[in-house]
Amino acid sequence: MARVLVTRRLPGGMDPLVEAGHELIEPDGERSFTHDELVGIAPEADAIVCLLTNSIDAAVLAAGAPRLKVVANVAVGYDNIDVDAAADHGIAVCNTPAVLDETTADLAFLLILAAARRVWEAESDLRAGRWAGWDVDQYLGRDVHAAVLGVVGFGRVGQAVARRATGFGMEVLHHTRRDTGMAGWRGDLDRLLAESDIVTLHVPLTDETRHLIDARRLALMKQDAVLVNTSRGPVVDEEALAVALEAGAIFAAGLDVYEREPEVHPRLLAAPRTVLLPHIGSATLATRTRMAQVAAENVVAVLAGEPPKNAVTGG
Ligand code: GLV
Repeated sequence: MARVLVTRRLPGGMDPLVEAGHELIEPDGERSFTHDELVGIAPEADAIVCLLTNSIDAAVLAAGAPRLKVVANVAVGYDNIDVDAAADHGIAVCNTPAVLDETTADLAFLLILAAARRVWEAESDLRAGRWAGWDVDQYLGRDVHAAVLGVVGFGRVGQAVARRATGFGMEVLHHTRRDTGMAGWRGDLDRLLAESDIVTLHVPLTDETRHLIDARRLALMKQDAVLVNTSRGPVVDEEALAVALEAGAIFAAGLDVYEREPEVHPRLLAAPRTVLLPHIGSATLATRTRMAQVAAENVVAVLAGEPPKNAVTGG
């Protein structure tokens, strides 16, 4: 029997750990352990199951070594974990790819539609009693069908968004550094930005992708373009995006992620034609339950001395 530090209670999802006979160390109620608590408890843990809001940095990993064997993130992105420090201590890092692709792609498509069709403004006016009745030039948006969709990052989620776009009769371009050999590949991101009517971001957050969409790149986009981000907030320079929206340099934006969550840049909150959601890309009951189970299954495998299904680094 091993001890597994679960940073926040995840109803149902931890069953594989319990069935394998492991003991769970969990906080009470619905709170998450603080960083200080994680450093304090890590030395007693063989494994950590954590959320993207937990910083599993060098301090937590050093505290956990040498007993700690695996950190399993309940997320596909793992920029909250210091993977280099984990590798130095021989600690495996796992994530939860695949199970959230379709759910996240649904939300990306929702933002594409909502931003292009100015849904937030229109609904807010209606609810606030500002709608005086149908008029011919109200809330004029951009067509999504038949538009050119630029998918930046063409992993599982990006491809799932592309499949939806096909059903809308869109032309799909995609950017990855390595040639995918597929139709619509653009090795040059600047070119994809200039050609696309709607741009959707699906890259992990790394040193290379931080502020990938900055003032210079926003200026390359069409004036009636829509930008959607469901990946990680720091991939976009929020200040530059707010400036572009205020100036009408692009048409609209749909965001689910932010540079300093849960803070949202005040200029973005006030920016025109902007739909803002609170990081709910994978937020369906079925998907969140499955993500927790997959994280637990990864821990069970490592603790049994088997290779986990979703290793980011092998430890
Ligand atoms: C969500 O943002 C995830 O990375 O799973």
